[in-house]
Amino acid sequence: MIKINSNYAKLQSSYLFSTIAKKVSEFEKTNPDKKIIRLGIGDVTLPLPGACLSAFHEGVDEMGKAETFRGYGPEQGYEFLRSAIAVNDFKRLGADVEADEIFVSDGAKCDTGNLQEIFAGDIAIGVPDPVYPVYVDTNVMAGRTGIFRDGRYEGLYYLESTEKNKFVPAPPDRPLDLVYLCFPNNPTGATATKAELAAWVEYAHRHKALIIFDAAYESFIRDKNLPRSIYEIPGAREVAVESRSFSKTAGFTGVRCAYTVVPKDCRAFDAAGNIEKLHPLWNRRHTTKFNGVSYPVQKAAAAVYTEEGRKQTRELSDYYLGNARLIRENMLSLGFPATGGDNSPYIWVRTGSDSWEFFDMLLSKAAVVTTPGSGFGRCGEGYIRISAFNHREKVVEALERIKQVLG
Ligand code: MLT
Repeated sequence: MIKINSNYAKLQSSYLFSTIAKKVSEFEKTNPDKKIIRLGIGDVTLPLPGACLSAFHEGVDEMGKAETFRGYGPEQGYEFLRSAIAVNDFKRLGADVEADEIFVSDGAKCDTGNLQEIFAGDIAIGVPDPVYPVYVDTNVMAGRTGIFRDGRYEGLYYLESTEKNKFVPAPPDRPLDLVYLCFPNNPTGATATKAELAAWVEYAHRHKALIIFDAAYESFIRDKNLPRSIYEIPGAREVAVESRSFSKTAGFTGVRCAYTVVPKDCRAFDAAGNIEKLHPLWNRRHTTKFNGVSYPVQKAAAAVYTEEGRKQTRELSDYYLGNARLIRENMLSLGFPATGGDNSPYIWVRTGSDSWEFFDMLLSKAAVVTTPGSGFGRCGEGYIRISAFNHREKVVEALERIKQVLG
């Protein structure tokens, strides 16, 4: 008899964005005349930057000629991309990351979801609340939690991110072994200062813990004082892995390319308390379960780091940040406290009422899709997240419609 992994029974019936997509498609069916504007899931709408597109084409053409055809590439990514990442995303910041510490993959979602696999079943885990659901659900699947009760899984420690702490939780006064941090934050749009990250790095050293730092939205940081990488913090190399993505940086949501940094001195511990380096373990996992990102996609990703690519990707994020500013200002002027959107593409809006009801109301009355804050956790109740990823004219129209409904 084939038995299922009973931990799957603990999961909420569907992934947050699938639930929303289902609601939206039902609304579409019953209201075929309404033109829906999507400011829900953070999916980019602008086309690929020209530099990436040309490189993508070149890569495809190379695959069509016997002299330049390539079969399996290195699972960890081609050297040309890993070196470009190390130099441009880290060394330029003064952060010490080498090319062979970078593992290229098909998504930060996959990486932040898969990393837990290399740790023991009984570790103490801290997740932010509100939280990107992947961190939680993958640990549920792995059997590291109890049941879901009152909006939370038993056995997880929730790091409450509220207006009181400006959505940046401080390390708790209890030991945790694995902590997920995401800055700029999804969903709140909050950013963490160097001092705030340094407190977490110090905590991880003190408790022999590990931080999974999700920096998928790093390219939206404009404040020069904010850290772009956790490796700008002294001591982070031993206690943190960092995931980044080309999805939002360069419009790659449909192309798929990301990477995770596992520094060679990053450590965990075996059952007897002896140090084990994570780099060989992640390399083992990656080479066993993954055969690398396709060559044309890696060529396209490497073009992000050319002079042209850098300019064009900056224009992309500037465009979405322009949307974000409009959304934040309009929601504020309607009397809704709103944060984020200055160094991130998400605006976190206090609705003062049930998140799903507010979501349903905006969908039915304005045909605008947002994301209910409670879908990200208990601390998200009473909020909605509005994404800045859409065309400017659609954002402007959505805000007009919202004004008519709420104004
Ligand atoms: C989101 O809307 O939170 C993101 O698009 C999800 C993701 O990047 O997987």
